[in-house]
Amino acid sequence: MTNETVEPAEELVRFDRVTKRFRTARGKRQTALDGFSMRIPRGSIVGLLGPNGSGKTTALKALLGLVRPDGGTITAFGHRLPAGQRFIAARMGALIEGPAFTGSLSGEHNLRLLAELHGAGRDAVTEALELVGLTQDGHRPYSGYSLGMKQRLGVAGGLLPSPDLLVLDEPMNGLDPEAVRDMRSLFSRLRDERGMTIVVSSHILAEVELVCDRVTIVRHGSVICDEPVDQLLAHQPTRVVVRVEDVAAARSALEEGAHTVTPAVGAQGPELHIMTTTSSPLITRLLADRGIYPHEVRLEQPSLEDAYIAAIHKADEALA
Ligand SMILES: Nc1ncnc2c1ncn2[C@@H]1O[C@H](COP(=O)(O)OP(=O)(O)OP(=O)(O)O)[C@@H](O)[C@H]1O
Ligand SMILES: [Mg+2]
Repeated sequence: MTNETVEPAEELVRFDRVTKRFRTARGKRQTALDGFSMRIPRGSIVGLLGPNGSGKTTALKALLGLVRPDGGTITAFGHRLPAGQRFIAARMGALIEGPAFTGSLSGEHNLRLLAELHGAGRDAVTEALELVGLTQDGHRPYSGYSLGMKQRLGVAGGLLPSPDLLVLDEPMNGLDPEAVRDMRSLFSRLRDERGMTIVVSSHILAEVELVCDRVTIVRHGSVICDEPVDQLLAHQPTRVVVRVEDVAAARSALEEGAHTVTPAVGAQGPELHIMTTTSSPLITRLLADRGIYPHEVRLEQPSLEDAYIAAIHKADEALA
């Protein structure tokens, strides 16, 4: 899709201190977004992470104009919402809180109806089915689809407007491992070959780590981390895993050396885990000085899961 308006070169979307409170059925106020600030750089795949109820879906709905914030600003494609909603709606494709299709119609028929709404042709339907790997099953009634197939058809629906920005709320839900891998490579292709920007909420951290360029972590409606995945991981301490005969002696030696040591059980027996920025030779030396010679000392690179848990704990400590 062409773009005639002036837009920031790097930033496609910016949430700036967005707040949203819902009124619950009992008349109470439920804060869903609390000063939520996030940026989505153009041409990136951004993972939106956070515990259940932290505000991910609400944030995505606010971007799509399905929820109206009480405060703060959302700017997308250089347009401030809600005024620019109609303009940006034409440039976004979305799957939010599961797809809504008609059960008695085939997957393809459902997509054709959706395509009409977007002014897209049959070719777009054929291509979308192909991209999500549903060409063979397109003729089958939607009611007979498995959970993963429904999810994939939902993503195909999001692709129909040939969007610049694809907004997907937990698209990996219910997919088998092969389909997860296919979805991951689809995201990379859409970014690399079509320059698409994708924001995807997920609880599957290993997948997010593999496919996302950037992560935004939400806690109680506020963003506690918004940075490139590489940068986030580079700031994490490395885990040194030590396998020794005398675990107690090794533990006290390491603790005397001011390390925080966590006992664990690995595939080959008891282990000690040390989160450290120190190099492993120093740890080996601390042990050797006490006459302890480990069977194994190995480094485990920090994962996104480590970084996520550390960020959540840090935010909890700040609140306590
Ligand atoms: N329509 C609504 N009415 C009342 N409260 C709502 C409504 N929608 C969301 N909330 C509340 O807002 C908070 C954020 O919900 P949201 O669905 O955005 O979380 P989430 O991060 O997407 O969670 P999950 O990981 O479970 O999908 C929750 O406390 C939720 O109960
Ligand atoms: Mg949600």
